[in-house]
Amino acid sequence: MLLLMISPNLLAELQAALTRKAEGLSRADAARRAGAISQTYRGGGGSGRIRTEQDALAYALARMPGTYAAVAASLTALTEIDPDFAPHSLLDVGAGPGTATWAAAEAFATLESFTLIDANAALRALAIELMRERPRFNALRFEAGDARAALAQAPEADLVVASYVVNEIDAAAQAALADALWAKTRGLLLVVEPGTPAGYARIIALRARLIAQGAHVVAPCPHDMTCPLAPPDWCHFTQRLQRSRAHKHLKGAALPYEDEKFSYVALSRKPVVQRPARVLAQPQTTKIAVTAKLCTSHGLETATVPHRDRDAYRQARKWAWGDAVLPATTPTGE
Ligand SMILES: C[S@@+](CC[C@H](N)C(=O)[O-])C[C@H]1O[C@@H](n2cnc3c(N)ncnc32)[C@H](O)[C@@H]1O
Repeated sequence: MLLLMISPNLLAELQAALTRKAEGLSRADAARRAGAISQTYRGGGGSGRIRTEQDALAYALARMPGTYAAVAASLTALTEIDPDFAPHSLLDVGAGPGTATWAAAEAFATLESFTLIDANAALRALAIELMRERPRFNALRFEAGDARAALAQAPEADLVVASYVVNEIDAAAQAALADALWAKTRGLLLVVEPGTPAGYARIIALRARLIAQGAHVVAPCPHDMTCPLAPPDWCHFTQRLQRSRAHKHLKGAALPYEDEKFSYVALSRKPVVQRPARVLAQPQTTKIAVTAKLCTSHGLETATVPHRDRDAYRQARKWAWGDAVLPATTPTGE
């Protein structure tokens, strides 16, 4: 079986389109706008702060690399569990500048129709501009307006994605949004949120609600049971991505990379065939053993793979936070 590994870094074509769009933009002005938008997010606000073309571009330059990396990592994880999934249609809800659409188009060569929904006119315009004249996105449809109303009009899709969106919906309306997303899902629904306790809580609530409606968890959980993690612990992952020079400048950052923390769930209409354990934190590797925190099909486990089990140890040394532990390398738990 050939596993699909989607690069966490923005596609060169998308990066080039963003860079072209940013030509002539004052870096200091873009950094100021991106900073103000981030501050609004940190204060619990949403994308309403993004009103102009310059705001939308500043947002995309600052945040698109991170949200793209999180969606790419989630898509890699779900295709590892369901390698036969070959969607033809995509519905990207709260699409913003089109981040998840680009990642999904990269992951699935079979995708041929793309429907995007977003309430924000400036972000919609940017998404359309970035995708314009790209033959891959010939069959593109954009629905303006509130997700809940627009979803009622939207076509069903094989793959539905809601990336960094649920956090922008009133808490009281999140359950109805979950139902509406699921109602449009023919194959798989992927929901990605910031990797904070609050983001995880939204994922867990949506997950429980949709399992009760017949959904099966493809990733990250190897089961449909109640999440075994107890506060203050929460299920989240991290994806490293390279920062371009413009990205570094915009964020006032020195490091050439950043680590995007995210929580996600991928839910399928059909039962899941393989359910390998998932690595929930970076394993500790010594010359004596590899020790890893795993979520398994029957709950949490601390797995210890001793050095004396040469083959298993060699495999376990490669485990990273977020990986699925494929059956050949499943160790004995404690
Ligand atoms: C943080 S951005 C994420 C954009 C994109 N999905 C990504 O991952 O980069 C959230 C997006 O959700 C959109 N949004 C928020 N509330 C919405 C609503 N009620 N209906 C439609 N779109 C909404 C915003 O306009 C914004 O584009």
